[in-house]
Amino acid sequence: MKSVKIGSVGLGRLGYEHAKNLATLLPGCTLHAVCDVDEARLQSVAEELDIPRTYTDFADMCADPELDAVAIVSPSFLHVEQIRIAMEHGKHVFCEKPLGIDVAQCKEAEKVVEAHPELVFQLGFMRRFDPSYAEAKRRVDAGEIGKVVLVRSYTQDPRSTIESTLKFAPHSGGQFLDMCVHDLDLVRWFTGSNIKNVWGLGGVFEFDLYRELNDADNAAAMVQCENGAMGFLFTNRTHAAGCNVETEIIGTRGTLRIAPVGAKDLLQIVDENGARQEYYPDFMSRWHTAFLAEMRAFTDHIRNGTRPADMTVYDGTAVSEAAYRCKESFETGKMLPIR
Ligand SMILES: NC(=O)c1ccc[n+]([C@@H]2O[C@H](COP(=O)([O-])OP(=O)(O)OC[C@H]3O[C@@H](n4cnc5c(N)ncnc54)[C@H](O)[C@@H]3O)[C@@H](O)[C@H]2O)c1
Repeated sequence: MKSVKIGSVGLGRLGYEHAKNLATLLPGCTLHAVCDVDEARLQSVAEELDIPRTYTDFADMCADPELDAVAIVSPSFLHVEQIRIAMEHGKHVFCEKPLGIDVAQCKEAEKVVEAHPELVFQLGFMRRFDPSYAEAKRRVDAGEIGKVVLVRSYTQDPRSTIESTLKFAPHSGGQFLDMCVHDLDLVRWFTGSNIKNVWGLGGVFEFDLYRELNDADNAAAMVQCENGAMGFLFTNRTHAAGCNVETEIIGTRGTLRIAPVGAKDLLQIVDENGARQEYYPDFMSRWHTAFLAEMRAFTDHIRNGTRPADMTVYDGTAVSEAAYRCKESFETGKMLPIR
């Protein structure tokens, strides 16, 4: 089967990671083109990864007849417009989360994807591809923990990357949309239910920038699902030890816990401070396997003519809608129903 030719847009923190994976680690696909408005960055990545075509304009890249698909790893507010341009040019689309930065945008994306059933569309909820999360889901679906009652999920970026986080904050869509979307996705995935009510909480404990952005630097939410299951989410960007993502799924007959300590390996370091394990230093290293697996799934779907069973445009809308309601709830101090 022929190799899938991909063009990737956005070569920032995550875009570079996806570009490296596509160019060097995934058989069956070729990173044929890259696009970024930052020309110096574009040229240096293209040279390093030996990519034949470079573009500063996304529509120009999509007009390249050799490309089969695009990976969208640009700032979140550009996603929906770029999905539209790519699909109108007949390209399969992998798009990073969040789908859009408001619900109207997400609904627009739904229409575009619905108009192109011949094309693969996959959203970047990579946690579902992480081996531990996939195994937890298998056990939940097999009924091993009975009925899921509560999903507790924390997403904490390391303090060591706070500078780039603060730069990214103004175009991130806010903590609920940017960070909690992953946890909201997990709540829906593990409970098998849509979210019905949300209560967003939070405050500015350290970084005034978040006050200017009408956002919180530490945020939490309690959510209630249509089937009665509950979720509790927490996020911040200043975890002392590294990238911490932990999830607990409490069922009527058992509990599953993923990475209560985000240990990057099995090495135990014993010194004058005691015994310790090191955390993953950043989200790229924590999710490396998952980022690779999601792209492998995407290119396999294109090559095999299949479609993702989940991570659809509708999942993107449902999760973004819940994240938005969390933000509104945080702003108003009221528990809110999903419309
Ligand atoms: N799945 C995850 O866990 C995860 C983690 C990080 C980021 N993300 C998502 O990935 C996306 C990118 O995040 P990031 O952290 O890499 O951002 P970033 O700010 O580091 O990089 C964005 C890149 O896009 C380029 N760009 C901006 N406007 C452009 C345009 N019009 N055309 C082409 N290129 C343009 C910028 O020059 C920059 O190189 C965001 O949507 C973010 O939510 C997902």
